[in-house]
Amino acid sequence: MSEFAAAPGTPPSPSLAETVAVLPAHEAAALKQARQALAANETLLRQFVQHTPAAVAMFDTQMRCLQASDRWLTDYGLADRDIVGLTFHQMFPDLPGRWKEVYHNVLAGAIEQCERDAIPRGDGSVEWLQWEARPWHKPDGAVGGLILFTQFITQRVHIEEALRLSEDKFRSAMQHSPIGMAVVGPDGRWLEVNPALCKIVGYTRGELLATNFQSIAHAEDRESAQPFLRQMLDRQIESYQIELRYLHKTGQVIWVQLNASLAWNPDGTPRHFVAQIQDITGRKRAEEQRKKLEEQLRQAQKMEALGTLAGGTAHEFNNILGIIIGYSDLAKQEVAAGHPVSRHLQEVLKASLRAKEIVQQILTFTRQQKDQRELILLHPIVMDAVKLIRTTLPDKVEIITDLEPGASAILGNPTQIHQVIFNLCTNAWHAMKDNAGLIRITQRTVRLEETVPALHPSLHAGPYVRLSVEDNGKGMDAATLARIFEPFFTTKGPGKGTGLGLAVVHGILQAHDGAVVVQSQPGQGSTFHLYFPAELAAPALPSPAGLASIPAGAGQHILVVDDETALAQATSLSLSRLGYRVTEVHSAREALAAFAQQPGEIDLVITDLTMPGMNGIDLTAALHGIRPELPVILASGFGGTRTTHFARGPGLRAVLQKPFTAETLARSVHRLLASSAKVEKP
Ligand SMILES: Nc1ncnc2c1ncn2[C@@H]1O[C@H](COP(=O)(O)OP(=O)(O)OP(=O)(O)O)[C@@H](O)[C@H]1O
Ligand SMILES: [Mg+2]
Repeated sequence: MSEFAAAPGTPPSPSLAETVAVLPAHEAAALKQARQALAANETLLRQFVQHTPAAVAMFDTQMRCLQASDRWLTDYGLADRDIVGLTFHQMFPDLPGRWKEVYHNVLAGAIEQCERDAIPRGDGSVEWLQWEARPWHKPDGAVGGLILFTQFITQRVHIEEALRLSEDKFRSAMQHSPIGMAVVGPDGRWLEVNPALCKIVGYTRGELLATNFQSIAHAEDRESAQPFLRQMLDRQIESYQIELRYLHKTGQVIWVQLNASLAWNPDGTPRHFVAQIQDITGRKRAEEQRKKLEEQLRQAQKMEALGTLAGGTAHEFNNILGIIIGYSDLAKQEVAAGHPVSRHLQEVLKASLRAKEIVQQILTFTRQQKDQRELILLHPIVMDAVKLIRTTLPDKVEIITDLEPGASAILGNPTQIHQVIFNLCTNAWHAMKDNAGLIRITQRTVRLEETVPALHPSLHAGPYVRLSVEDNGKGMDAATLARIFEPFFTTKGPGKGTGLGLAVVHGILQAHDGAVVVQSQPGQGSTFHLYFPAELAAPALPSPAGLASIPAGAGQHILVVDDETALAQATSLSLSRLGYRVTEVHSAREALAAFAQQPGEIDLVITDLTMPGMNGIDLTAALHGIRPELPVILASGFGGTRTTHFARGPGLRAVLQKPFTAETLARSVHRLLASSAKVEKP
């Protein structure tokens, strides 16, 4: 071994023959054997070095080459040269001076190495070399020379370089991307997050890296990615995209779009997830708002359709009721007061009036009474209504009011507002367990802003008086909430609710150019917010209507026009009873003909509004064309905009709501004739 260590190029050892000559025969034989073994060993080692697949070369202290592996020779282009005995310098005459320093150090006993050394080539390119030089020692311990291991790593360096470059690019892209980006380990921990993601969720990079990706997900969305993750881990999909909610550090809910893909290790195990996270909260909000508005629009259209239907039916009923009431009235007057028939007729009248009330409700719902509004203060009306309702509700239902006095002027109809409060309080009471609970009525002036999404399609930016009726009853689920304003929708048992209460509230608020906004959840009570457009002017004080006995006529001539013959007859009869002279016709054409015959003879005209051919309004216009000061009463089942227009025109006219009792008819006729007399004889 030691001989090998001093191998070729060292001064030749004494020849075998010389040594053998001076030794006894048996020793000489042993020596010979030992030398042969050594020689065999030396050949073996030489072959080992020569064929080792690494680049290895051995030098003596003079830096003369003792041996080199084939790989080394090939690497340095020396394969066809006999390099044994050549010095390092002879082999590499252009080598930079620093190598001298290296091998001096090594020959002095040091180990020198370099992981990555640039070796310039003649063509200007650079080869990368990894090398190590270490001393070898002779049997006496002295340094015998050095062994040089080298390996060209140019290709590896280039790959590493490319990798680093791409990593740099990735990092820079991540750093500057406006989209949130993250690398997440297979265990769910954040491995890297970019500033955009930190901004979206409000956490710092450090805070995120200390947690896992589930920690910022909304509790309800934590599992939403699971099926995709599983499919991705099963290699069924390469990536997925979902929309889910995150929680911002402030607790605010944010919507994000998440794109995730999975990178694999060469051994087939998952390495990490790459995620792109985009804040889509704005888009989501807009979508939700749009959906809500669409739903509201659909609801409004449905209500409109139902309203038209109910309104039409109610109109028909009105006429029929008019006939029933009219004739019952007449019949009652024809029998003696104590007669049993009189009592029966009284019942018929009572039932008819009740039916009339329901029809009125339907007509209210169908928004046919817009004209009956005046400038009022909401505050005293609510106080009044609450006082009234207190007497009808059980003692254990407490009503608390919190009303803002003044500044509550609206264009409204006090009776209808009474009705709204009554309906809402009744519902609140019905929603309470054991007839016990709390109703809070709050009134505030609020200003709706243009920038805030509309609470309701009917509401616009501007000042509103908001009346809120809140209860702590059982509340409503979404399915009930979606239908509460539909006429005849009720959850109450048969005979317990007609389902008209809220339909009427809705109709009234619509007629007031306002809206109802409801908030409710099962078990959480309900709040009905009523929005009335605020009027800035102060209202006039309401004048109390005086009561007087039924006024009679004095032979004045009245022209009654109605296409419903029975109704026309009932009206005519009532008027005759009251002491008027009556001409009855059943169309506008007939009316005009009758009037033309005796234009100065007619003192007043009562006409139906809706008639085939010419309607009541047009007839009035035609009559006024002949005699402008002629008093006209328009009997109508509707109080629609055309009537408003009519009622506001010049001259003397009145609107009579159908169906009417003889008393109402008498009062209207009397009042109008009295005013007319004043006008005609100032
Ligand atoms: N304050 C409330 N709390 C819980 N549910 C309510 C409340 N107000 C209304 N509702 C629900 O809305 C439904 C419709 O109410 P609406 O007032 O239109 O009709 P109703 O009360 O059932 O019958 P009606 O008022 O005609 O006697 C009710 O049946 C009830 O289910
Ligand atoms: Mg009700």
